[in-house]
Amino acid sequence: MTAPWVGSKVTDNAAGRVGGWQKKEGPDHTNSFSSPHFKPAIPRYVIRSLPKQLTPSMIAELRAATKEYQTGDQTIVALQPTTLQVNEGELTLIIGPSGSGKTTLLSLLGCVIYPTRGDLWVDGQHINRLGAAELARLRLQTIGFVFQNFNLLTPLSAEENVAMPLRLQGIGRRETRQRVEAALDLVSMADRRRNLPRQLSGGQQQRIAIARALVTNPKLILCDEPTAALDVHSFTIVMQELRMLADQGKSVAVVTHDPRLKEYAHRIIEVENGSARDVSDFH
Ligand SMILES: Nc1ncnc2c1ncn2[C@@H]1O[C@H](COP(=O)(O)OP(=O)(O)OP(=O)(O)O)[C@@H](O)[C@H]1O
Ligand SMILES: [Mg+2]
Repeated sequence: MTAPWVGSKVTDNAAGRVGGWQKKEGPDHTNSFSSPHFKPAIPRYVIRSLPKQLTPSMIAELRAATKEYQTGDQTIVALQPTTLQVNEGELTLIIGPSGSGKTTLLSLLGCVIYPTRGDLWVDGQHINRLGAAELARLRLQTIGFVFQNFNLLTPLSAEENVAMPLRLQGIGRRETRQRVEAALDLVSMADRRRNLPRQLSGGQQQRIAIARALVTNPKLILCDEPTAALDVHSFTIVMQELRMLADQGKSVAVVTHDPRLKEYAHRIIEVENGSARDVSDFH
């Protein structure tokens, strides 16, 4: 069925008019995106009135992607051909035993390594075709990383650590201050902003690391064993925060070998011997 808004505004045009724009005389460049005369077939006011998301929006996709490592004359297949999508608004758990290929899968999604074969798209970009500098830019703008050991810079305070990605992006001081404050508020750590990492508990350091990962407003947040160094109380807080970020629209992928994390997941991908499969039986 045709959507009601298509009728009069887009297709019922007086001769020579398309969506309210007058057709130009001379060569028709309107189909060329690079043309200065390019106008979309559907006017912007109609596009703006569309529902925001009809289907979950995909942020990353692997198609028959593999990863092999060469050590001497030995080839290690870390990831067998894998096809999967990661969506915004979902917390995806990547679970499996040690050495199964979880970090390899996360590193592909994080544009840290290229697939050996197959294809990878992240935020609409075909990663196979990008060079190292373009990948670095994509990582900085689109992806936030959270690691098991927090990886905070020890001589810097909590707020200086959180500000670091914004400094790398060249954001001004005033905006940096506001965004750091908002990120620290979100993880309830604003009152500890001036503390050094060693003055914070493991759980608090991880929350600072989460604030650092989300301060650039990335679409994709990748976490490798984020709770492995935490006690039960901190573990719960960290997982609740990651789940909240996914519920607010971020795509969050969490690698773990801990089945307790399953209750926080929208989707579960099991990895075994380099083979990944979606085992979510709920949505
Ligand atoms: N840089 C590398 N060079 C050679 N082999 C590697 C490299 N990185 C990973 N591997 C191998 O690839 C396989 C998958 O490793 P990966 O780190 O992805 O496992 P994992 O599931 O994250 O394990 P863990 O739970 O112990 O962190 C392992 O056999 C590992 O030894
Ligand atoms: Mg790992």
